[in-house]
Amino acid sequence: METSNEPRTKRNRFLARTEEKWELNQYWYASNTIAMLTKEIEEHATKVAFLSTPSVWFSLENGDIKSRSYFFDVDLQWEKHPNFVHWNYNQPTEVDPKMHHEFDCVVIDPPFVTAEVWAKYAEAARLLLKDGGKIILSTIPENAVMLKEMLNVEPRAFQPSVPHLVYQYNFFTNYDSTNFASLNPEVESF
Ligand SMILES: C[S@@+](CC[C@H](N)C(=O)[O-])C[C@H]1O[C@@H](n2cnc3c(N)ncnc32)[C@H](O)[C@@H]1O
Repeated sequence: METSNEPRTKRNRFLARTEEKWELNQYWYASNTIAMLTKEIEEHATKVAFLSTPSVWFSLENGDIKSRSYFFDVDLQWEKHPNFVHWNYNQPTEVDPKMHHEFDCVVIDPPFVTAEVWAKYAEAARLLLKDGGKIILSTIPENAVMLKEMLNVEPRAFQPSVPHLVYQYNFFTNYDSTNFASLNPEVESF
């Protein structure tokens, strides 16, 4: 059992192999940010829906959680992958009924930060989550009030590093977490 609160640091295979497509607003988290997310998930979840966060599913190390979990995205490069769900946030509830209320965690990073887009991700999250399910998401800090109302999440100290994104995002969760309580050394604070 892991006891350290330090993120794992090693070369991330997803990042090394997967180019960002600008037309889909693909901005991958940096490797230490992914390591922190996978650590958090492996400590606190058993079956996760990754909405527009493929890098995190690919980087999971716990094989049981990985095989039970699914990543939802519009990019058909993964269409043959058994854990891929082809999903478009414009039709947020078009999900196999077998997946409704099946997940104990969702991880969300949409391609846009607007209220209209967040409302659709929130609808999907509510459909997929079990009662009391955990929510981890990233977006701009200005969305805090809106997201408190939509999904009851709050900003955390640990911020994501997203190397090619011009904004600084925050992580938000609907539960307290030790991993998210410390600053991310990859992110400069002002
Ligand atoms: C800002 S990136 C988030 C990626 C995340 N930071 C990661 O490291 O995995 C936005 C994601 O939304 C996906 N996406 C773009 N358009 C979408 C759509 N219409 N429906 C669902 N996902 C979409 C992209 O393919 C990309 O994976």
